[in-house]
This record gives sequence, structure tokens and C-alpha cells, in this order.
Amino acid sequence: MDTLHLTNTTDDITKAGQLLKAGELVAIPTETVYGLAANALDAQAVAGIFAAKERPADNPLIVHIDDKDTVYSLWETVTEEAKALMDAFWPGPLTIILPRAACVPDIVSAGLPTVAVRMPSHETARAIIRAAGVPLAAPSANRSGSPSPTTAARVAADMDGRIAAVVDGGDCEVGVESTVISLCGETPTVLRPGGITPAQLEAVLGTVAIADSITRPLAEGEVVASPGMKYKHYAPRAQVTIVRGDAAAFAAYVNARADEGVMAMAFDGETQALNVPFVTYGAREDRDAQARELFEALRLADDRGATVLYAACPPVDGVGLAVYNRLLRAAAFRVVNA
Ligand code: TXA
Ligand code: MG
Repeated sequence: MDTLHLTNTTDDITKAGQLLKAGELVAIPTETVYGLAANALDAQAVAGIFAAKERPADNPLIVHIDDKDTVYSLWETVTEEAKALMDAFWPGPLTIILPRAACVPDIVSAGLPTVAVRMPSHETARAIIRAAGVPLAAPSANRSGSPSPTTAARVAADMDGRIAAVVDGGDCEVGVESTVISLCGETPTVLRPGGITPAQLEAVLGTVAIADSITRPLAEGEVVASPGMKYKHYAPRAQVTIVRGDAAAFAAYVNARADEGVMAMAFDGETQALNVPFVTYGAREDRDAQARELFEALRLADDRGATVLYAACPPVDGVGLAVYNRLLRAAAFRVVNA
């Protein structure tokens, strides 16, 4: 199929809404990463998402809404904790999981009794949800396993010919996917770190647990609360290794491997001493810039033919926890000390 390339004009948003209403797949910008959207209440349309992405059938999707009241038809009960989070962080990069209502098709939740919901802050995303007139199921718009796309061009590279349209809404501001929090157990639990930090969540909820699978590999056969965390994820073609150490130690480590044809993924302002080709992803202490630039840097390394990529280790607090979590998966948990 020919994939339409749309922009955020009123006409194009109307067109995107019509396509979605008709059961087609449309990639849409959000503040986190681009999403591959379909009508969340149409099981057949949602099945198309799994096919286009080659996504494992047991990995559930996030439902995107434009009106907070929509949660009353998607969740069985809207708890006080959920209301507090919605008031504090919606619209924005927070996904909340609660038991699902009967109208949510099984396929959206990959058969789980729960459903993940978020209200994005990106104006174009919200205009498209309104134009479609239905909640939109949308995973990140990459082929399963590769880094999430933060520009419309990267979406097109992965999805052209597989979906009805891509809407270009510019570069994503956050750059890593939303924080996912489950309110299904005794203690609210962060299943995936993202743009909303654990400290921000604690300020609203009191105690918040962090799933320990966020920063460690899963054991063989381990059952995980968030199925997405068990897959090799976010990985470029290059073999990635995270390197801990300051600028000088990092440069010494990669330079010592220069004749092996390695590439570096370094911090802005720390590239003078490098004797190998490099890409950058924000300054050492600039967690927001690292989040914004991480996935594009990984894809750029691939474009430049990297086979072995050494990535400078980001700070692991605040939004840095999300960056570190994605990079760990890109690196298949390979971390070395320089
Ligand atoms: O920022 C985002 O969240 C982006 C944009 C497009 O909104 N979407 C996104 O979707 O990252 P996706 O499908 O790539 O990641 C969804 C994550 C997966 O790790 C999935 O396993 C988890 O959320 N998830 C979804 N529904 C769940 C549920 N009912 N229970 C547990 N985990 C769930
Ligand atoms: Mg994804």
C-alpha cells in the first residue's frame, strides 16, 4: 500500500481521523515518541498494529485518549490514586494501568485483565484523537525491537508501505516513552521509567515501588508485570556496550579500541579527545537532552555503519533512569567500567 505523508494542517488531521475511523493504521506524533495508532475499540484494526510492527502477540498496547472522562468507559473502576495521578500529570507522559472494562477488546491488552491508558500532551496527537472520535491504541511506531522513532522520517523508514498514513508533527520533545505505572497491586508500581520521574510520582502518591526488572536482566522463564520489558528492545544493529567513567576514562577506553573499528556514543562537549567516529546524545548532566536524543543517536550510529558502539553511561536518576533503562536494553545489559 502507498503510505500517505500528512502534516498537522486541519485538512490532514481530518484525513487522519477518517482513516482511523475506517479501521486503518496511522502513525501519529506524541510528546514522547511517535505512535502507531488504530481504533482501540476495533479488534481487527488493532490486529493490524501487531502485524505492521511484527509485535509479539503477548505484548499489550497503551490506549490514548483526549478527554479524562473516557477512563470511565475503559477501566472497571477509577480509583482515588488514579484520579490524583490524572490531575497531576495528564495530559503528559504518564501511562496508568488498572483493571479493564468489558468494551476494551482482548487483543489491546494481549489477554490481560487490565488496560494501560494515557492522555498525551502533544496538540496534534490530541487533535487526531478528537478527529477519530474513538480512543486510539498505539505502541511506538518502530518495527518491533528497533529504537522508537522520534521523527516522522524514522517512522517512514520503518513503516512505509505497511500503514495508511504518517502524520508529521515535528521532533518529539521528551524522546523516551511514557512512564508506565500499575495501580493494580497493593503499592503503585512503576513498570517502565519515562518522562515522569519516581520522585514526581511519590510527591502525589506517597510510596511508589519500582519494578526491579527496570535495571536488571530477566531470569530465564521469569514472569514479568510488563510484558514489553522481556523483549530485546530499542536495539540498533550495532552491538552496544555501556561504558562507565568520566570523559577522560571514556576517551581512553574507546581510543584503545580504535583499530577494531569501533564507534563512540559520547556526551556533547566531550568529543575532542576521541580518536574514533562518534555520535552524541546531550551533555553529561543534561538528562532531558539525553532522553530527547538517545534513539536518534542509536539510529544515526546504524546509518553510519557502526558495528560496535560504546556508549557513555548516563546519570541514572530523574529522567536519567529512563535513558539508562533503554540503553541497558539496547546493550543487552553489557556494562563495563573504564
Ligand atoms: O510514550 C509512550 O508510551 C508511547 C507513545 C506512542 O504513547 N507508546 C509506547 O507503547 O511506548 P509501547 O507499546 O511501545 O510500550 C507499551 C509498554 C510495553 O512495555 C507494554 O508491555 C506495557 O507498556 N503495557 C501496556 N499495557 C500493559 C498492561 N495492561 N499491563 C502491563 N504492561 C502493559
Ligand atoms: Mg515500544
